[in-house]
Amino acid sequence: TETTVETEVLVVGSGPAGASAALFLASLGIDTIMITKYRWTANTPRAHITNQRTMEIFRDLGIEDQVLADATPHELVGDTVFCTSIAGEEIGRILTWETHPAREADARLASPSLTVDIPQTYLEPILVRNASQRGAQSRFSTEYLGHTQDADGVSTRVRDRLTGAEYTIRSRYLIGGDGARSQVAADLGLPMEGAMDIAGSMNITFTADLSHLVAHRPSVLYWVLQPGSDVGGIGAGLVRMVRPWDEWLVVWGYDIAGEPPQLDDDAAAAIVRQLVGQEDLDVEITGYSLWGNNRMYATHLQEGRVFCVGDAVHRHPPSNGLGSNTSVQDSYNLAWKIAGVLRGYAAPSLLETYSAERAPVAEQIVLRANKSGGEFRFLEVLGVLDAGSPEEMQAAIDERKANTPAGAAKRAALVEAMDLKHYEFNAHGVEMGQFYTSSAVVPDGSPKPDDERDPELYYVPSTVPGARFPHVWVADTAGHKLSTHDLAPYGRFTLVTGIAGEAWADAAAKVAAELGVPLETVVIGPGREVIDTYYDWARIRGVEESGAVLVRPDTHVAWRVQSLADDPERALGEALRAVLGRA
Ligand code: FDA
Repeated sequence: TETTVETEVLVVGSGPAGASAALFLASLGIDTIMITKYRWTANTPRAHITNQRTMEIFRDLGIEDQVLADATPHELVGDTVFCTSIAGEEIGRILTWETHPAREADARLASPSLTVDIPQTYLEPILVRNASQRGAQSRFSTEYLGHTQDADGVSTRVRDRLTGAEYTIRSRYLIGGDGARSQVAADLGLPMEGAMDIAGSMNITFTADLSHLVAHRPSVLYWVLQPGSDVGGIGAGLVRMVRPWDEWLVVWGYDIAGEPPQLDDDAAAAIVRQLVGQEDLDVEITGYSLWGNNRMYATHLQEGRVFCVGDAVHRHPPSNGLGSNTSVQDSYNLAWKIAGVLRGYAAPSLLETYSAERAPVAEQIVLRANKSGGEFRFLEVLGVLDAGSPEEMQAAIDERKANTPAGAAKRAALVEAMDLKHYEFNAHGVEMGQFYTSSAVVPDGSPKPDDERDPELYYVPSTVPGARFPHVWVADTAGHKLSTHDLAPYGRFTLVTGIAGEAWADAAAKVAAELGVPLETVVIGPGREVIDTYYDWARIRGVEESGAVLVRPDTHVAWRVQSLADDPERALGEALRAVLGRA
């Protein structure tokens, strides 16, 4: 007879979405099984830019050091080059991922963590290792086949790919982190907008020492403008650093309407040499594959006890580097809610807020990434698209050097083309400004944070309910620096107040006991457990000293109150009940 395995949550997939869901759930003490189809994690570097929001999530989970140890650091990610080939003429550079001094100031003000580069081949093992160490069961070579759900749980059919044996895993909840071809999303019939495979790209991985061509302008991305760069693909040819400066990945487009290109080692090496611009380059091809660019997002992310996270619900080109970041952030939003319901202090309706909060993000990032791919104006601006021969192309590129009205016009147009790329490479508002509107947020009538600068480029810190809890540096009693994020760890709700608001602590203790909710109060002020060393918390808290900010486990603001309430226990209790769906 067949046995049924039981767990609280079953996660399908060990990519950024699934592995992080398993890590978050295991960290919260939830019984979790993670299954994944293949024998190991990602076998190609794929996603790599890991932005501040994701890094501070890793900080929260206590694995930021491990990620940093395997990452290419912030200092080396930024001098992004546009050129005719790596060895050829440089058209210009843009300081990316907030490495421009002005943008780096924005970044350092916004978060305790900086954007780094870690390929998926390095990140996934860290997530899986820590999930497993914290109690998750990981089952490789195990395929999701289908599921049925009823009032009490989900029965999922899986196949052990080594033995061919099929069995059932019975769980309270199921999370589908099974990528862009998600079977879980298809089985749920999640509503999707957009289209798949709208442009063709190929990935070629190779090893070659390119230090002499790149180390003086260190970046993750070297964009190559050559005839054909505008065909398919992600806007231009790309030579991407995997490890400085001898492991690389080329992305080159192809016309998806035509026959797929036939790749072999020689054809791949020819493309690499062409983009590097060195005919005799000593190169070892380590892999190649074709992939489709997508523009698709789900408008609803869950059904009953089953949820989809990551590429299962947002599918888009790598532009803006949002793929794995958004996947991790989806799971961060979802896992604490599931834990709250499983532990009985949140109503099942809290789970509905996952889709309410993350579906708008899915739409936003899919549209943003697709728009960025189309915002490579360099070929057009240089006049290369009309060139009939390599000589004409060179003449068009050279015209920007001429002391003529046409040369001046080209130079001016290049400035504009360059500025447009900030929306792909310095979209700090997109990366950090996610704002939630749902029943898990109690609005106080204040509008969404806005400082009149471009909301895609600039992040505005704010404690308006729904916003990401702002970071400033504070200190412990011994003067060691802490981020305000360190005060609000994933395992609980945190009420942050000042000395005049100390009465909130008593109220919070009573509410926590009454509702059975993990909730702690942090009082910031001189002589208290946390010191406002730079007085920055006072500047940013958005409430009076006697007021309070209630921070959710996922470091978004759930509720705030301007000053000490007449009946703090009642005020806080009402807010928390509303957030947890227990009102
Ligand atoms: P992901 O696809 O990573 O993982 C899916 C998981 O589900 C895998 O572990 C798989 O084994 C498992 N699975 C699937 N079906 C299953 C089944 N039936 N049963 C069990 N397990 C199953 N992004 C970016 O930002 N920069 C980049 O350069 C690139 N490059 C790139 C190249 C290529 C070739 C691809 C395919 C994708 C990219 N991306 C990218 C996108 C990026 O990789 C993507 O956004 C994240 O990996 C999404 O993470 P997920 O965990 O959602 O899916």
